Amino acid sequence: MKKHLFITVEGIEGVGKSTNLAFIKSCLETGGREVVMTREPGGTALGEEIREILLAHRHAGMADDTELLLMFAARAEHMSRVIGPALARGATVLCDRFTDATYAYQGGGRGIDSGRIAVLEDWVQGPLRPDLTLLLDVPVEIGLQRAGQRDTADRFEKEQREFFERVRKCYLERAAREPRRFQVIDASQPLSEVQAQIAGLLERHAGVAGS
Ligand code: TMP
Repeated sequence: MKKHLFITVEGIEGVGKSTNLAFIKSCLETGGREVVMTREPGGTALGEEIREILLAHRHAGMADDTELLLMFAARAEHMSRVIGPALARGATVLCDRFTDATYAYQGGGRGIDSGRIAVLEDWVQGPLRPDLTLLLDVPVEIGLQRAGQRDTADRFEKEQREFFERVRKCYLERAAREPRRFQVIDASQPLSEVQAQIAGLLERHAGVAGS
């Protein structure tokens, strides 16, 4: 069993990330791993403050480049304080979103050139990339319907349907380009089926016996 492992979970709004992250964590722990569960933007005190700035409506007109750089500023802090040290001591890091979200939201959604994102990715992460990325996928209409049931929409959730169509397309294109790292899960299935699929994937890719 590979010791340190970096797993990320991605998807548009309303795909059921929170429920499934808790399930993934428990599968990994049952399999004997020390799990550090964290999220982006955020995961550190400074990063959570940046998250608050990014999601708040008071900065509704934020420039796309500011948004991009704040995502990577939070990520730099997260890398040096949480992700790097956890992986170095052999823990498994389970991260709710990572740089694929930047390609999907700031690249696909906002239209920033992916080459510029790649420069920041190399700068902040060096060679580190996730070992396994679970992409929870649902059609945008279903995702937005589910997310719409929450009472307070943040600055991203306020975006129009076309924005999320571009985000989803970018995620699926990235998954198609890196089929070994990405595993796409049809999250419109009943939860029990989604979780059976996740447990099977963890067994195959993370050497974790199902829950
Ligand atoms: P969350 O609601 O899944 O916690 O994520 C907060 C929002 O931040 C979500 O709408 C996606 C967005 N986001 C980006 O736009 N770029 C990024 O790099 C990350 C990590 C998140």
